[in-house]
Order: sequence, then structure tokens, then C-alpha cells
Amino acid sequence: MTKRTPIIAGNWKMHNTLAESAALIEALKKAENKNEAEIIVAPSFTSLAEVAKLASGSAIKVASQDVHWEDKGAFTSAVSPVQAKDAGATHTILGHSERRSVFGDTDEILNKKVAAALRHGLTIIFCVGETLAQREANETIAVINSQLENGLKGFTAEQLNGLIIAYEPVWAIGTGKTATPAQAQEVHASIRQFLTDKYGADFAQATRILYGGSVKDSNVDEIMAQPDVDGALVGGQALLADKFTRIINFN
Ligand code: 13P
Repeated sequence: MTKRTPIIAGNWKMHNTLAESAALIEALKKAENKNEAEIIVAPSFTSLAEVAKLASGSAIKVASQDVHWEDKGAFTSAVSPVQAKDAGATHTILGHSERRSVFGDTDEILNKKVAAALRHGLTIIFCVGETLAQREANETIAVINSQLENGLKGFTAEQLNGLIIAYEPVWAIGTGKTATPAQAQEVHASIRQFLTDKYGADFAQATRILYGGSVKDSNVDEIMAQPDVDGALVGGQALLADKFTRIINFN
């Protein structure tokens, strides 16, 4: 079986002033990393350049939380992949459920954002996940396959090389409800099967699939123990240096 380097990513969402962001990244730079995980943080756009500057020279990578599909233009409030890269991002989250449900990012829009990120060499953390109603209607796998199919449409394995997937069940985000390790494993295995069928075994085996949704210092160990869970995308606890450090150092 392929050994995949784990990824622990923090999505800071709409939190932190510049000073708070600076304090957090400085604390994380000093954190132990016994698993040699890849560490990624996604600050809000106002903190992105500052965090990237402070993180440079460390092993921590910086992601934008989204990018627009155009390189520039009359798109008030949006941030382009060119700007995100210029600010120091190497990665971008795309398709976070809050972007899908609050800001109306459809599969079609996300497909254009995927194209934009690839065009500029940003590594994509592509989020998928079902709502509670969809889970209860036994639609979880179908929903996720359709998000993958449509969001990544038109790109080859070669073009998507390095892609990171994040499975974030909508009902587990910010709710304190975590998928059980078995629920996470079931969906992660299904995502890997989708990738195998669509892009081949080599691509699927190399792709890191992160779990997100109420990951905490108290549950990270059992989640990370699942064979198809390659990392975590953390919200609330990514804002607390001590909690996030414990998550980075999962057992
Ligand atoms: P919480 O860890 O706060 O549930 O958020 C998860 C998430 O949405 C990360 O992108």
C-alpha cells in the first residue's frame, strides 16, 4: 500500500484580526510535528499575505479559502488566483460547504474555479460532503460522486496531480457532531474508489483524502487511524494553538 504523507490543515474561516493571525502562526511555527505531517493554514484574505510572510522559511504552507475563476476584472469583493498566489498562497480550498450553501457556489462555478487554480499552479483542497437530509435518504455516496464528477469535470489525472480531497459532512461542521471513524472510513474508501475508476489506481493511491467536521484533540486519533483518512481539515480547533498542535501530533 502507498504511504501517504498526512496533512493537517486549519481553515480559519472569517476569524482573526491581523494581530491574532500573526500570534497564531508564530505559535504554530514552534509546534512539534512528530508525524512529519504537512501543515497548511487557510487564513482570511486580510491576513493571508502577513501569515504567508511569517510562515516563509517554515514548513507551514498557506492556502486561500477560495478563489474566483477569473484572473482579474470587475468582480467586487472577489479574490483571484493570481492575487492569492501573489499574497503567498500555494494551496486553495474550493467547494467548502459554506461556500456552496451560503454563497451559492455550484458544481459548475466550482469547475471554473478548479480550472483557474490549476492554471496558476495552486494545489486544490476540494471539499465534498452531504447534508443530514441527504445522509438520511441514503444519498451520501451519490451526492459525493456527483460533486466530484461535476466539480472536476474535464481534467485528466495528470492535470489534477497533487489534488487533495476533503470530505466534510455538512451536518458535522461546527456542530460538535463528528462522523464516527467507521462513517468517515466508508465515505473515504468510496471516494478513493471513485478516483480509481476515473483516474486510475496510481492517482487514487497518491491522493490525500482529509476528513473535516468537528475534528478535535479528543477525536483526532481514532479518525486518523482509519486507513483511507489521510489527514484533517479543522475549523474551530484550528484557531487554538494548543488544540491544533495536539491535532498535528495525532497518535
Ligand atoms: P469545524 O472543525 O469547526 O467543525 O469546521 C470544519 C470545517 O468546516 C473545516 O473546513
